[in-house]
Amino acid sequence: MAPIPGPRPLPVIGNLLDINISQAIASMCALSATYGPIYRLHLGGLDMVLLGSQELVDEVFSRKDFIKQPIGSLITLRALTPDGLLTAFHEQEEWGIAHRVLVSAFGPLAVQKMVPEMLDITSQLALKWARFGDTTAINLTSDFTRLTLDTISLCSMDLRFNSFYKDDLDPFVAAFMDLLETSDARDLRPGWLNYFTWTENRRFRKNMRYLHKVASDVMARRRANPTTKQDLLNTMLNGVDPVTGKHLSDSTIRDNMITFLIAGHETTSAMLSFLFYLLLTNPGPYRTLQAEIDQVLGKEPLTAEHLTRLPYAKACLKEALRLQPPIPIFGIQPVSSDPKLPVIVGKKWELKHAQPVLIMNDLLHRDPLVYGDDANEFKPERMLDENFKKLPKNCWKPFGNGTRACIGSDFALQEATLAVAVLFQKFDFKLVDPNYKLTIKENVTVKPSNLFIYAKLRPGVD
Ligand code: HEM
Repeated sequence: MAPIPGPRPLPVIGNLLDINISQAIASMCALSATYGPIYRLHLGGLDMVLLGSQELVDEVFSRKDFIKQPIGSLITLRALTPDGLLTAFHEQEEWGIAHRVLVSAFGPLAVQKMVPEMLDITSQLALKWARFGDTTAINLTSDFTRLTLDTISLCSMDLRFNSFYKDDLDPFVAAFMDLLETSDARDLRPGWLNYFTWTENRRFRKNMRYLHKVASDVMARRRANPTTKQDLLNTMLNGVDPVTGKHLSDSTIRDNMITFLIAGHETTSAMLSFLFYLLLTNPGPYRTLQAEIDQVLGKEPLTAEHLTRLPYAKACLKEALRLQPPIPIFGIQPVSSDPKLPVIVGKKWELKHAQPVLIMNDLLHRDPLVYGDDANEFKPERMLDENFKKLPKNCWKPFGNGTRACIGSDFALQEATLAVAVLFQKFDFKLVDPNYKLTIKENVTVKPSNLFIYAKLRPGVD
């Protein structure tokens, strides 16, 4: 067997000095240039193996002996949502019940019924940009975060944050943003050190209590004022698991309400922000996209039917997810039939039973053996259905894998396609700084930072 390469860990701090904490993911990718597509790192008290080529990722995803492992900040977030879909351990009963009850409520048909609500929030954004005029610099990521938060809260639990009408963050949003940032910081420290960050720990617990209370209050209000709306909250309150015959417990419902708000907005906001950056720095795809939208929508108000006729817009989104996946890393673990025996990968590397393994989307999605010499270029054509079908298996994993893949992918793609269609129908865009160089803020997800644009209403649009 071959040893898995990697930088030598130091006592207590492991490989902390090999990583730039504010750009942890970028540093992990950079290490692969030295150590190759499989290497090991010791971080936060864990001995991890990182995988970054399609060949290796395809191997582990084609086998049955690898399962999800919540890793990094997801472990810290488990304190907030122990029964939430995203943070649940694979064998947890609550995960199976919630997954089976919710899966069809997130399917394409159910999501299509949410078009009017998605349009409601996108129209608020369009109105804001129209009122700004074409000389006001727009903080793109901040507005997309308002858009995606208000959309998921309205569609999932009929809750309006009205973020476009407030300068400050809603206290609920401020609490979970703070909690996400803390989770990231805690993730990179050795576990024992986190016991001594008393002020941070107190703030973490206070935020957690507040989020639980708000979610429980929304649930109680819905029970006191029942509706027939087919939203995710009603699905959770009324749904019965076809396998066990059980209902979701109150704490599982509460945890999933918080999960949807967290998992469902930062990611989609990041996807839209990266897409705009890529379009604004690639005039060819920008023009092709706008031409498709003009041809399909013209000046008509958007309907669900238009969304089925925008293949280039969808390809742009998939290509943006390839080049800049909002979740660049996710965790799995090998499960050996005998925990004392290793699991062999690539016919030559031994992994311990339950050893954390990280899938590095940033590397996988730019594997030159799959995407060629132009892997780093934004070419939406490669994601058109007819070309996407020809790509090898497991080379595009922005939504994770298998039964633990993203339950909200149809929701996110519809929401983003709708936003892109409405915004490109109404506006022309340009970067405030034409020489803007992409910088990335890492915080559970990754997002562009300091990305400012101008939006100019197109002729004939009111
Ligand atoms: C899981 C990405 C949007 C809810 C995941 C995972 C990824 C991901 C990579 C797997 C995580 C892991 O294995 O640890 C994304 C991206 C999105 C997006 C890139 C947008 C572009 C959404 C939306 C929702 C959502 C809109 C809506 C509620 C979830 C949930 C899980 C999940 C609940 C856990 C699923 C399970 O394990 O059963 N997502 N997501 N996501 N996502 Fe998303």
